[in-house]
Amino acid sequence: MRKQIAAANWKMNLTYQQGEKLLNDILKAKLQPEGHQQVIFTVPFPYLIMASSEVANEPNFAVAAQNCYHKKSGAFTGEVSVEMLQSIGIRYCVIGHSERREYFGETNEQLAEKTNLLLEHNIQPIFCCGEPLAIREAGTQNDYVESQIAASLFHLSPEQLEKVIIAYEPIWAIGTGKTATAAQAQEMHAHIRGVIAARYGSAIAANISILYGGSVKGANASEIFAGEDVDGGLVGGASLIADDFIAIIKALK
Ligand code: G3P
Repeated sequence: MRKQIAAANWKMNLTYQQGEKLLNDILKAKLQPEGHQQVIFTVPFPYLIMASSEVANEPNFAVAAQNCYHKKSGAFTGEVSVEMLQSIGIRYCVIGHSERREYFGETNEQLAEKTNLLLEHNIQPIFCCGEPLAIREAGTQNDYVESQIAASLFHLSPEQLEKVIIAYEPIWAIGTGKTATAAQAQEMHAHIRGVIAARYGSAIAANISILYGGSVKGANASEIFAGEDVDGGLVGGASLIADDFIAIIKALK
């Protein structure tokens, strides 16, 4: 069975002390994810080493960065390189989050460069895609998401592509409390898997983990994750609440 993933995205929230306490409150639950299940904490850069040490002895728990720069190194004040992430043992990195595309003008081309650098450094990209409300209302969401994936990922070889985790996050559901229905999530995930299968073959497509993000809560996670092509979630607000994120982890297939 392909990996089922519960990924927290803390975004720009929590002090260091609050983050450390949240992690410990979750670890105190002594959850024991099965072999095909993975829990990932996507934390702000300054917390990466702390979070890594907190989960170091927890099987199937890991830490991810929330972003990386699209150049290898150099005079880019304030940015963090993939090489820096690799040097502290980070194995996952979220890229292309809608907030970075919107507020920081990230382009599909830059995301292709980030994907290349991450794969070169043996870090798994968690590639975010998703449509704005206007596109959903126009009914063109499938083409919109397909164009994001094709522009940033379809230059990859099959061996590279199969290392990518995809997170479908409809922008209109992020932080709004308006979750996509389980049917809407499954429909888009099946479309994404079909697009990948058409280019790379069904065997590789069947192995790609596709996460849903957008107002996932402990109360709705089981219904959303039940979708055949939904392999867990990328969770914002609810991941800041220990009991809620514990419930979401327990909802994994
Ligand atoms: O990256 C996950 C995030 O965008 C979803 O946020 O608060 O709707 O779970 P939220």
